[in-house]
Amino acid sequence: MLKVDVRKPIASVILNRPDVHNAFNDELVKLVTDTFTELGARDDVRVIVFGGNGKSFCAGADLNWMKRMVQYSHDQNVEDARAVGRMYLTIAKCPKPVIARIHGAALGGGAGLVAACDIAVAVESVQFGFTEVKLGIIPAIIAPFVIARVGPGRAREFFITGERFLAPVALNIGLIQHVAAHELALDALIDSKVSQILTSAPGAIAAAKELIFGVAARNLESSLEFAAEAIAMARASAEGQAGMQAFLERQKPPWIEKAEKTT
Ligand code: COA
Repeated sequence: MLKVDVRKPIASVILNRPDVHNAFNDELVKLVTDTFTELGARDDVRVIVFGGNGKSFCAGADLNWMKRMVQYSHDQNVEDARAVGRMYLTIAKCPKPVIARIHGAALGGGAGLVAACDIAVAVESVQFGFTEVKLGIIPAIIAPFVIARVGPGRAREFFITGERFLAPVALNIGLIQHVAAHELALDALIDSKVSQILTSAPGAIAAAKELIFGVAARNLESSLEFAAEAIAMARASAEGQAGMQAFLERQKPPWIEKAEKTT
């Protein structure tokens, strides 16, 4: 259901249910959650590329599984939805940068996965959509991630119409950051993002991700206090000291030297 390939320092995580366009069920949700937790804790992994095997990135929740929920008690149903929420949160808060590699379709919960990743790049022809209302359900668990990405105004239009749209529209509303003409160009774009990430400090990247979530959750005064604590920690850290010293001495910072030694 999930292929994980670590070629240090790059991990690739590939949804692998091609028969159903990588729709996810409870088992896959657990696998994705556990995998991102584990990769997030590994020092030898610096970046994660998240994609799908077969024709699509992901067609959202497996509708056979969703439909079976009617046999569960309300509490079991809620608990199951919470597990899905933990999957999105684990991806979003992963200390390693996560790049979504999107092709084919990214619908419903699949479009939600896109919003949970740090950087999303898609082939021009990808079909996106928050199609839940077409099925009589709602984009509930993905809403916090999608709204954080595109804003409530744009979410209103697409959550209400459930219409399908292509990558240029996804780019326009901020759901993704880059569009490629074809899959070769998609991989070239991803490679260039990976190269940028590998020249940045791993601890600083994790702290920058925390900074974004922390600031977004606070009001102006409290976010400034939070940011002051964060920069105080970063500039006094071993990594911050080494990085600034390397710049002043026109040397390579230690994380680049280490990367060059291991490749
Ligand atoms: N859950 C379960 N099965 C799904 C699925 C989903 N979310 N999405 C696709 N599938 C299954 C289809 O039922 C079909 O199964 P079958 O071969 O047993 O008939 C198989 O995947 C192939 O899908 P099909 O629709 O025949 O392929 P396609 O290339 O014409 O279209 C999609 C692909 C992804 C565009 C289309 O299947 C689709 O729109 N899926 C619904 C996605 C959706 O609305 N998701 C939101 C869920 S919250």
